[in-house]
Amino acid sequence: MVDLRSDTQTKPSQAMRQAMARAEVGDEQEREDPTVLELERRGAELLGQEEAVYLPTATMGNQIALAILGERGTELLVEERAHIMVSELGGAAMHSGLQTRGLPGYRGRLSAAQLRATAWSEGDFWSPRTSVVAVENSHNTAGGTVWPLEELRELTATARELGVRTHLDGARLMNAAVASGVHASEIAGLFDTATLCLSKGLGCPLGALIAGSHALMHRARVEKHRFGGAMRQAGIVAAAGLYALDHNVERLAADHARARRLAEGWAAAGVPVDLELVETNFVQIDVRAMGVDEHDALARIRDEGVLLSQTKPGVIRAVTHLDAGDDDIELALTAVPRALGARVHV
Ligand SMILES: Cc1ncc(COP(=O)(O)O)c(C=O)c1O
Repeated sequence: MVDLRSDTQTKPSQAMRQAMARAEVGDEQEREDPTVLELERRGAELLGQEEAVYLPTATMGNQIALAILGERGTELLVEERAHIMVSELGGAAMHSGLQTRGLPGYRGRLSAAQLRATAWSEGDFWSPRTSVVAVENSHNTAGGTVWPLEELRELTATARELGVRTHLDGARLMNAAVASGVHASEIAGLFDTATLCLSKGLGCPLGALIAGSHALMHRARVEKHRFGGAMRQAGIVAAAGLYALDHNVERLAADHARARRLAEGWAAAGVPVDLELVETNFVQIDVRAMGVDEHDALARIRDEGVLLSQTKPGVIRAVTHLDAGDDDIELALTAVPRALGARVHV
């Protein structure tokens, strides 16, 4: 089975497992794990911030960011299909007392003008002041789309001017950096806090980083403990993170090239793919445009030996990753049009 449901499906390679087996470890809660400390040092450098904190998941990273940047009874602005909005179970409200307002985005992006027009400032007794804006880069549900650096500069500068704190959900920041040719530190360094996931395209079994100033990361460590994310001999998995930073970043370009090959091949075969949206490792197929129900489409594609997943009603996606090689792509190139074509012509 060719599994293109998500880049979260990667399994640690033999070389990564060997690096894990060799890891020096210690008590992470006591900040005595040398491998975690080294990953945090590398993470801070990579993300252009003073300090980074190692975490089990990127969801925890986003939730910690909202807890330390937001203020109870104020508002979080976020694009309406962002992970924080649609896939974190209302955590902003539950953990941090934030009211979330989802704004319509263009390819997952919010503009500085939109922020200026929507943010509420203090000064009356009824509207919740906007305390945080969070953005996602690359943007998952928009199709792995990438923010131009200039737009991020404008948005974060406007936020600062308005007294609004900024968070980057950079679960796939390295995809965005590789695709745009902009160093991750230039992107993530614009924000008060930034998260990076190590278990997606970077291929680790688990792990994420949050980064920011020393003062914010001190608070992040407190929240990490409160969320139950402070660990013990975590160096055994942090070693996978170090391995990934050394070996699995540049190769993301190969995932992007394979996504483009899939998109162009499928489009040529009459499968509705918006080639413009294919900027990183995602390819979205608008099955509704073919008159096919997405569940039906996924089942038929599965019968042909390929696993895809649903993005939103009527749209399914393929996500390339380091466990999907050229042979897998060749198989998917023919299997998917066949599966959808068969359905269309029934
Ligand atoms: C954009 C984005 N942010 C955050 C996450 C959360 O990552 P995790 O599963 O490590 O909590 C995901 C997971 O798919 C994601 O796509």
